[in-house]
Amino acid sequence: MTGRARIERVLDRARWAPSGDNTQPRRLQIISDDHAVVLGSDTRRTVVYDLRGHASQIAVGALLEHVAIAASGEGLRVTLSRRPSSGGSENEEHPVFDVRFSADPGLAPDPLSPFLETRTVNRRPFGTVPLTFCEKKELEARLPEGYRIQWLEGWKSRFAMADLNQRSGKLRLTIPEGYAVHREIIEWNARTSEDRVPDRALGLSPFILPLMRWIMGRWERVAFFNCFLGGTLIPRLQLDILPALFCSSHFLLLAPAPPRTLDDYVAGGRALARFWLGCAARGIQFQPEMTPLIFSSYVREGIRFSTAPHAPRLAEEIARRLSRLGGEATDRAVFLGRVGRGAFPSSRSLRKPLPVLTDEGQNERNPSDDASGKA
Ligand SMILES: Cc1cc2nc3c(=O)[nH]c(=O)nc-3n(C[C@H](O)[C@H](O)[C@H](O)COP(=O)(O)O)c2cc1C
Repeated sequence: MTGRARIERVLDRARWAPSGDNTQPRRLQIISDDHAVVLGSDTRRTVVYDLRGHASQIAVGALLEHVAIAASGEGLRVTLSRRPSSGGSENEEHPVFDVRFSADPGLAPDPLSPFLETRTVNRRPFGTVPLTFCEKKELEARLPEGYRIQWLEGWKSRFAMADLNQRSGKLRLTIPEGYAVHREIIEWNARTSEDRVPDRALGLSPFILPLMRWIMGRWERVAFFNCFLGGTLIPRLQLDILPALFCSSHFLLLAPAPPRTLDDYVAGGRALARFWLGCAARGIQFQPEMTPLIFSSYVREGIRFSTAPHAPRLAEEIARRLSRLGGEATDRAVFLGRVGRGAFPSSRSLRKPLPVLTDEGQNERNPSDDASGKA
């Protein structure tokens, strides 16, 4: 196999890395037989859950970790470096990473490598049997130095998370900014989707999907059902309350220090990837529960994220409850989610094909133009 074919294979496997709502906020370039470039481009301008770009930065970090793991399967060691930017949010929106590959015959394939393609989110309720002490220790051992997991176990924590998630669900479903995102990212009548989330993977029962689809066709319908017919009750029950009650544990992924910079979130994404793949390796189901953490960060940073008058009050309550649940360590959290045992989901997001993510299929604006100062 040529050097280029090997790198293509690595990137083809790495593109299965997760991203918020399957937005895949990155492009890839193969420069030579030992050099590739990852071009991040975050979704802060269009996605209310990414107003500081942190969700996209976590996703880019996960992708970089997937590259390193896939490369190990080819006997290639990876050196990563972010190109210096001249500062400012414009540059933060388009971080550029050089990935250099070097052959290392002594390098063992990362044990997480077989799970790059099969790792997936599961939004259904899981079994409630707790993870064993050994399982938890093994999962924590896979994390980079300084990261740790705060487990939120037992019925009390699960009730508290159900309460937190349904508040967050109410906020998500009743702000126009949330509607604008959901309308774009759901692929209706689908079991798989290359660039969005198929409706069957949302966690809603198939019986209410047609009604949801109709309601979501127009914001006026959403607003009417929310006001007069308790329109968020069933989705909150199915998407937030039941999954939060039925799982082995919720968890906070804690960084060594409160994450602040782009690099902190990229590093957090690399840690997340190892934790999620570790769960996949053990057959443990996994779902991120990021919106309480995201809304809490908006409260902490004083970010006005919605025009809806009720939004700040609901977000403040969510922030209060999350910090009560997570305690002192909450400000070090980069990720919130739940794990448990259950059947592999029958519906999932796929990925854009490699030629679309690389220059060959690219007809969108190239983020590297910004980084290199080209017009
Ligand atoms: C930063 C980040 C945030 C996410 N937030 C959520 C979330 O709040 N709820 C959820 O169900 N899934 C969440 N996901 C999972 C993505 O929707 C999922 O990874 C993506 O649709 C691709 O699907 P796959 O993981 O099954 O390949 C998140 C993923 C990432 C990387």
